Amino acid sequence: MSLLDFIKKSPKAELHLHIEGTLEPEQMFALAKRNNIHIPFKNINEAKKAYNFSNLESFLKIYYEGAKVLVKEQDFFDLTWAYALKCKEDNIVHAEIFFDPQTHTDRGISFDVVINGIYKALQKAQKEFGLSFKIIMCFLRHLDEKEGFKVLDEALAHKDKIYGVGLDSSETDNPPNKYEKLFKKAIKYGFITVAHAGEEGPPEYIWEALNLLNVKRIDHGVQCLKDEKLVEKLSENQIPLTVCPLSNIKLRVFNKLEDHSLKKMLDKKLMVMVNSDDPAYFGGYLNQNLIETQAALNLSKNEVKTLLINSFKSSFLSEEKKKEWINQI
Ligand code: ADE
Ligand code: ZN
Repeated sequence: MSLLDFIKKSPKAELHLHIEGTLEPEQMFALAKRNNIHIPFKNINEAKKAYNFSNLESFLKIYYEGAKVLVKEQDFFDLTWAYALKCKEDNIVHAEIFFDPQTHTDRGISFDVVINGIYKALQKAQKEFGLSFKIIMCFLRHLDEKEGFKVLDEALAHKDKIYGVGLDSSETDNPPNKYEKLFKKAIKYGFITVAHAGEEGPPEYIWEALNLLNVKRIDHGVQCLKDEKLVEKLSENQIPLTVCPLSNIKLRVFNKLEDHSLKKMLDKKLMVMVNSDDPAYFGGYLNQNLIETQAALNLSKNEVKTLLINSFKSSFLSEEKKKEWINQI
């Protein structure tokens, strides 16, 4: 089997995916029309042209603007269903999905509308083609910790649907230590924790996520290579880093894919895998990320296999399910 076929046909897990980041321009325009919402682009081409980012902050501005077209439960269902179909296409058999309730509740959309739309679409995908999933609720780190406590309390009514909590949005100047109390409370409620750290921010933020937020995984984490002691700790404990190569290029964390540190991370025996982050904005879903990264870094078939195996090892699936999938790669 060619390496390309191996990538396309192997089962895989996606662990770093913002559901709001799967809003394709075509769907954005359709929902804007359906809900009579103004969007700052004349047409689909103009929107695509605006997806030319200089850093994380410049992307987030457009991403939050786009999310305004999501109003009704049906909108969240349609958005999530479209991603579920991409999973089927890419042979993603397990997806751990982020959603940002504050992006919606701050506009007057109820928490229930958001979570129910997402959950019902994933349940349908599970029933129709066996996609397994976990939902992770992210706190927006540019907002106060106080705001986070409010959504955490709302999440309690949906504890059966939400597996864990995470931390996303503007990393610079919003260190994990700002959310220590909030994460302690989330853990007390029984949520597992993850956090974006070391995307643009310094290695110190990764240390804080581990030591203060007790995270099971670091989202991105590519800045860890600047700190040898941290690399040692991450490698020894096999703490997963959910790397997103095309995202890192679009947000200028690296100049080009050939400069990406993923291969160095594999060489250092770090627990890394590939994810798509916000595929509608960054130029491709999971298979596209794998295909382009393999080519740019000249990854061997064994290295690609390690990435796919790591996607299951790093997931929140049961040990039994992990083994079943890994045996099929
Ligand atoms: N929200 C959506 N995508 C994100 C990213 N790559 N980093 C931080 N917050 C995000
Ligand atoms: Zn992300």
